[in-house]
Amino acid sequence: MRTIKTLALGLMVALTQPAIADSLFEELGGLDSITRFTNRLVDLTFEDPRTAHQFKQTKKDRLAKLLVDQICELSGGPCKYKGVNMRKSHVKLDITEAEFNALVEQLQQAMDEEGVPFHSQNKLLAILAPMKRDIVER
Ligand code: HEM
Repeated sequence: MRTIKTLALGLMVALTQPAIADSLFEELGGLDSITRFTNRLVDLTFEDPRTAHQFKQTKKDRLAKLLVDQICELSGGPCKYKGVNMRKSHVKLDITEAEFNALVEQLQQAMDEEGVPFHSQNKLLAILAPMKRDIVER
């Protein structure tokens, strides 16, 4: 009986896992909304003097596309990120904590403008936060 209960509980947990991931993708408004707020993020990042200097040699459209795929995939959507890993793509940039925080603020602004609910914004930020250790050098 106990084994059956354990199995049933395990099955319930297994079944709810993808549902949690799916729902963040939905909560963010799906691919159209993710594409809009990510393009806006990239615009802000390229304009803001706190971050713009880092992107002087970057192809904006390519970066935006990679970021859309990454956010879509991380939130449980039907995309596949095909870019370089976070450590490798940022290691030579000498990115500061202040630059990282500025980009997080820009993402929050872009999601606010898109009307993404605050609690859903925080779920995405919680997924991105651990990447800081691969991105920030000092
Ligand atoms: C959670 C935060 C961040 C995420 C999720 C992120 C994500 C990405 C992704 C997906 C790429 C493309 C990798 C590839 O080329 O295959 C990239 C590249 C890059 N990121 Fe970030 N990034 C973050 C923070 C930052 C910050 C704070 C800066 C600087 C202010 C930055 C500057 C750059 C630059 C300059 C590139 C290189 C683009 C190129 O190839 O020209 N990133 N990032």
